[in-house]
Amino acid sequence: MTLILTDTNDESQRYQFTLGEEVIVTTSTYELYDLVKDNPAEQLIIIGPNVKMETARVVAEHFRVVQPSLGVILVRTRLDVTTMSEALRSGIREVVSSDDASALVAASKRSLQISSQLMEVNKAAGSAMARGKILIVFSAKGGCGKTTLSVNLAHALASHTDSKVALLDFDLQFGDVAVALQIEPKKTISDAISMQTNLDELGIKSLMVNQQKNLDILLAPTNPTDIEFISTELIDNLLDSLRNSYDYIVVDTPPAFTDLILRVFDQADRCFLLTTLDMPAIKNLKLVISTLEALNINKSKLDFVLNRSDIKSGLSLREVEEMVGEVFTSHIPSSNEVSASTNRGVPLVMDNPRHPVSREIIDLAVRTDLKFRPIENKKRGIFGRKSK
Ligand SMILES: Nc1ncnc2c1ncn2[C@@H]1O[C@H](COP(=O)(O)OP(=O)(O)OP(=O)(O)O)[C@@H](O)[C@H]1O
Ligand SMILES: [Mg+2]
Repeated sequence: MTLILTDTNDESQRYQFTLGEEVIVTTSTYELYDLVKDNPAEQLIIIGPNVKMETARVVAEHFRVVQPSLGVILVRTRLDVTTMSEALRSGIREVVSSDDASALVAASKRSLQISSQLMEVNKAAGSAMARGKILIVFSAKGGCGKTTLSVNLAHALASHTDSKVALLDFDLQFGDVAVALQIEPKKTISDAISMQTNLDELGIKSLMVNQQKNLDILLAPTNPTDIEFISTELIDNLLDSLRNSYDYIVVDTPPAFTDLILRVFDQADRCFLLTTLDMPAIKNLKLVISTLEALNINKSKLDFVLNRSDIKSGLSLREVEEMVGEVFTSHIPSSNEVSASTNRGVPLVMDNPRHPVSREIIDLAVRTDLKFRPIENKKRGIFGRKSK
């Protein structure tokens, strides 16, 4: 079916006869816009000879932006250079003479072919876009709050942005996500060793512990000897499969650049680099930045997070930012509630979402989601926030 914009409804039969198919004729551009919305499969608009050039130009320019795959063909009684060049500028695909029915049929065919090619390209780009994003949480100094941030960030993403989230404990030797959430480690990453290259969606599902709606967790091995069998190839396969099943894959890390962690950095879409306000942590953050630079990790992926930002350490935020040469986009305050909630096995963002620590982490989760999924957020119209 083709959509026709004309100055009179009488023309429907003529177009129907020429094109050899059903047409929908309208004399109103507003109705045309509604028709396109209601018939998303339609990929062709023909604008009749008596519709003003100005109107044709506005319609073509509108659809060139909102639905580039849709083709617009203009019919004119006279084909002159001015009309042709104006049509070209506004994105009209072809201009045909009103007394040349076969030219109109041929132009329609060409336009529909272009439309279907464009739709294929859009579909491929769409599915590439839809792949899950890897978010790594790292600091080279131990005890900065990596596990606290990973666990809370994963929960915040799952409950406040309506995303499907996987939390991975890649601190393979000393991972404590299971302890922090009081999960009995019946299933761990060790179970992936026997699957190696066979990690399909079903295999992945069998490894993950379901924590709550939208959140699954992959725990670190309970047997340290398993670590030598966890190859970088296994990690690559795992991350690749996880991207198909989750919107976000949050990775908790050890305080060291192991081969595995470098692999994750390589594939990460966002890297949250943590520090606290003490000189050893700041020195290590500077080292991390230069190491990542040497490894050609794109700087635009880095996000700097200051944990326990309000403790009196004798160093001000400005001094630390000057030392590091970066701006901290999140400042997580210090609070006894953090360890108290960990001891209860419930992350603070779930236990008390209004707590200043929770607010900062939820804000980071929502900002991250907005960065990666602005369209979904717009569709939901809530910018990812669920009120609690
Ligand atoms: N903002 C905070 N306020 C108060 N305590 C915090 C805060 N962030 C983390 N902690 C506490 O600091 C300790 C270390 O935190 P965490 O285990 O998250 O660090 P880590 O970087 O994962 O450590 P590791 O390098 O050993 O894995 C924990 O007891 C945690 O409860
Ligand atoms: Mg940790």
